Amino acid sequence: MTKKILVLPGDGIGPEIVGQATRVLDALIADHGLDMTYESALVGGSSFDEHGVPLTDEVLEKARQADSVLLGAVGGPKWEQYEIAVRPEKALLKLRSELKLFGNLRPAILYPQLASASSLKPELVSGLDVLIVRELTGGIYFGQPRGIRTNNNGEREGFNTYIYSESEIERIAHVAFRAAMLRDKRLCSVDKANVLEVTELWREVMTRVGKEYPEVELTHMYVDNAAMQLVRAPKQFDVMVTGNMFGDILSDCAAMLTGSIGMLPSASLDANGKGMYEPIHGSAPDIAGQNKANPLATILSVSMMLRHSFGEEALADKIENAVSTVLDQGYRTGDIYTDGMKLVSTSEMGDAVLAALK
Ligand code: NAD
Ligand code: IPM
Ligand code: MN
Repeated sequence: MTKKILVLPGDGIGPEIVGQATRVLDALIADHGLDMTYESALVGGSSFDEHGVPLTDEVLEKARQADSVLLGAVGGPKWEQYEIAVRPEKALLKLRSELKLFGNLRPAILYPQLASASSLKPELVSGLDVLIVRELTGGIYFGQPRGIRTNNNGEREGFNTYIYSESEIERIAHVAFRAAMLRDKRLCSVDKANVLEVTELWREVMTRVGKEYPEVELTHMYVDNAAMQLVRAPKQFDVMVTGNMFGDILSDCAAMLTGSIGMLPSASLDANGKGMYEPIHGSAPDIAGQNKANPLATILSVSMMLRHSFGEEALADKIENAVSTVLDQGYRTGDIYTDGMKLVSTSEMGDAVLAALK
C-alpha cells in the first residue's frame, strides 16, 4: 500500500525549510522507488488567515488518515493579538493531542564539523549524543482547569494545572527505557520532585517501571540542576526523560550545544509508531522570507520519519550521511556559520544535500 504523508509547512520559515525537505523526499521517491506520496495543507497562522481557525477539521482528518505527518513551524507576531484558543500554536497542540503523539524524541547530536559553532567549548561537546524524551500530550500544557479568571479580591489571575496520571507517566517511561536499551543504557529522569507532587509521582513511577529494565541505569535529577548540567558537562547524559514543559525548555538548551536550533529534528510518536515529524525550532519570524533559515533540522526530520514510521533504516542513514557530507564540504547557513566556511542560503543548502544524496 502506498504510504501517505501529510505535509504541513505552516508559517514563517516553515514553507522555506519544508520546501527543501520535500525536495529530499522527491529525490528518494524517484531514485529508490519508495512507494510514498504526499500532499500539503495549511496549518497555523496560514490556516487561520484562510479559514479563521489554525487547524480545520478537514486537515485534522487528513492527518488521521495519513501514515505520517511532516510539519514545518507555526506562529508569529501577526497572530499574537488573538486569544490562545485560536493561535497558530493551538494547531500543533491539537494535532499532538488528537493523534495521541505522547512520545517525543529530540536527539541532540553534535556533528563533529560543527564543534566550533557550538556555544560551548569543543572539548565539552565533541561526541555529544543526547536523546531527550519529552512527554508531549500531558502535563501543564493540557491540564484542566486552565484560564484567566477574577478572584475573590476582584483581581484577575491566570492559572494552569500541572497534572500527570500514572498511566501517562508509565507509557512515556517505557518509551524512554526502550530507547535507552538501544543506546548506552543510561536514563536520567528529570523532575522537580522536591517541590511538585506531580513529579513526586513521576519519580515513583519511573523507578517502578525501571525494575522492568534492570540493564538500564536510572538516575533522577531536578530540572534546575539538569539545565545547569546540560551546559556544564552535557556528555554525562545518554537519554533524558521528562515532562512536557521541562522537555520543551531543555531541548532548546540542548539544541544550542549542537551549533544551532536549526539542527535538531524531532519525532512525535503514538503507541503504534505513527508519527509527526518536525524541527524543534519555531517559525523564526526574524529571518522568515529571506531564504536564510537552516533546513537541516527539517531534512533530518524526514530521516527520522523514514526510520521510525517506515522502517527505511538505510535511507534514513543516507540522509544523515548526506548532511554530514555537506558539512564536510563547508556549506553553512548563517546560524552555523564560522570563519572560512561557505555561507549558503536555505535553497543552496537544499541543493547541496540533494547533490550529496546522488
Ligand atoms: P524560534 O525557534 O522560531 O526562533 C528562535 C531563534 O532561533 C530566532 O533567532 C530564529 O531566527 C532562530 N532560528 C530558529 N530556527 C532556525 C533555523 N532553522 N535556521 C536559523 N535560525 C533559526 O523561536 P521564537 O522566536 O521563540 O518563536 C517564534 C514563533 O514560533 C512563535 O510564534 C512561537 O510560538 C513559534 N514556535 C513554533 C514552534 C513549532 O511550530 N514547533 C516551535 C517553537 C516556537
Ligand atoms: C515546540 C514548541 C511548541 C511547544 C509550541 C510552539 C506550542 O515550542 O515544539 O518545542 O511548546 O511544544
Ligand atoms: Mn519549544
